[in-house]
Amino acid sequence: MGSEAGLRLGLIGIGKSGWTHLAALKSLKDAGLLNIEINAVSDIDKTKLKKAAKEFNVLTVYEDHLELINDETIDVVYICTPISKHTEMVKDAARANKAIYCDKPLAHSCPQVRELNAVAIDSSVQTSVGLMLRYDPFLLYAKRLVEKHNFGKPLLAHIHDDQQFPLDKMDYTQWRGDSAVPGGGILLHQSIQDIDVISWFFGDIVNVYAQVGFYGDRGVEDQASLIMQHEDGATSTIDSLWHWLDRPDERKIEFFFENGFIGIALESGNTHLDYHLKGEDQVRVHSENAEEALLEHLHISSNNLALSVRKPLSDAAINKHLALSYSFLKAVMSGETPSPNFLEAVSAHRIVDAAYESSNKKAPIDIL
Ligand SMILES: NC(=O)c1ccc[n+]([C@@H]2O[C@H](COP(=O)([O-])OP(=O)(O)OC[C@H]3O[C@@H](n4cnc5c(N)ncnc54)[C@H](O)[C@@H]3O)[C@@H](O)[C@H]2O)c1
Repeated sequence: MGSEAGLRLGLIGIGKSGWTHLAALKSLKDAGLLNIEINAVSDIDKTKLKKAAKEFNVLTVYEDHLELINDETIDVVYICTPISKHTEMVKDAARANKAIYCDKPLAHSCPQVRELNAVAIDSSVQTSVGLMLRYDPFLLYAKRLVEKHNFGKPLLAHIHDDQQFPLDKMDYTQWRGDSAVPGGGILLHQSIQDIDVISWFFGDIVNVYAQVGFYGDRGVEDQASLIMQHEDGATSTIDSLWHWLDRPDERKIEFFFENGFIGIALESGNTHLDYHLKGEDQVRVHSENAEEALLEHLHISSNNLALSVRKPLSDAAINKHLALSYSFLKAVMSGETPSPNFLEAVSAHRIVDAAYESSNKKAPIDIL
């Protein structure tokens, strides 16, 4: 796919997420890591269009997303709009035979996500979804640890995840305050990443018991607690909260195995990983070492790595976007299956739907 000039990209929705993707794509291009060109951007907001075109040197701007999708100079479409727009845009892009990146969550419910996956398969287009934690350097480091050492059987995982309610914190995401647009709160928009991480490490989830809360009375849930059973008998729990406190976002991940423990603190300013294998001392891993795991995962040699990519790779606000796009676009160029893709998103949405059902019924739900 792509012309001799490389892969030609178009991005729809230049908000917080779209801007971060554009910055990451620019870093990949500037560092010479990928032969890509951002050919067009689209937003309904003219001011954002103008600003992005100037900052990222984009020649074509569209107020109508369909014009971008049908632009023959575009091979890959990035969809970074609010969730309620994803379904229509993904379908249009698949119909136009474009490879598709779409932000998470893909849609309001699992059946809708299944439909999007089916549409992409029918059109034979490659897909990618913004389950960004798959490209977190510390989680990749943890994956590597589990592969290299004898941690043994998974026993228990726990993720604690708290941040300020996004509506009050970010004036650019007003759509999150109208429940018809986001279709859900913290469970659908944030815990979905934790669910994906837990299944990635501990395998298929076969049962979920959940409770969601509406402390803030904003029409969407701001608390979600889940207890899950895995196929091989392990248990995992997630506690997520959107609050109104003035404190940094925090995500703490703990994995207990038969022969070891891995704890990851993903909090701004104090991110680190601790691991402890039976009979050995506990080891603390800092960002520099974790970044090496990310480079290794991407098969990028750290020798003489351009500063223009070394710097964003060290920047937690952008490094996951950069790594995910690098991996996705490489797959598009080579015709391989990108990951995480729409099919992997189906699995995460299945658990989200089951968690809402469990909370409504006040009963555990088997995942069939
Ligand atoms: N993966 C992650 O970690 C992560 C983090 C934040 C947001 N997100 C997701 O990214 C998506 C965007 O979120 P955001 O925080 O950037 O929102 P945002 O409100 O900052 O940006 C959305 C942009 O889309 C534009 N838009 C809306 N309708 C459009 C249309 N029809 N055509 C073109 N542009 C249109 C808006 O004008 C706005 O600029 C959401 O799906 C959100 O859930 C993902």
